[in-house]
Amino acid sequence: AFEVELRRSRKTVQVGATESLLAALRGVGVKVAVSCEEGVCGTCACTVLEGEPDHRDAYLTDEEKADNDQILVCCSRARSARLVLDL
Ligand code: FES
Repeated sequence: AFEVELRRSRKTVQVGATESLLAALRGVGVKVAVSCEEGVCGTCACTVLEGEPDHRDAYLTDEEKADNDQILVCCSRARSARLVLDL
């Protein structure tokens, strides 16, 4: 499990091991535009302010993944205990 702070929304949400980040965001009423929901289209990209994403998409390049400044919330998770997103 990991914690995600949604800085603009002023909300913090816990994402359980069996729950997706997208589901957790929806659960607190934070809407993100999505399309494929499989990590291939890039529609759901969000800005990462703090923390290290666990990238599980096939959209970002390796360089973009290493920059740790964006995350595709439909499929990715967190390596760090906490992420802060610009949402
Ligand atoms: Fe397509 Fe997330 S909705 S990559």
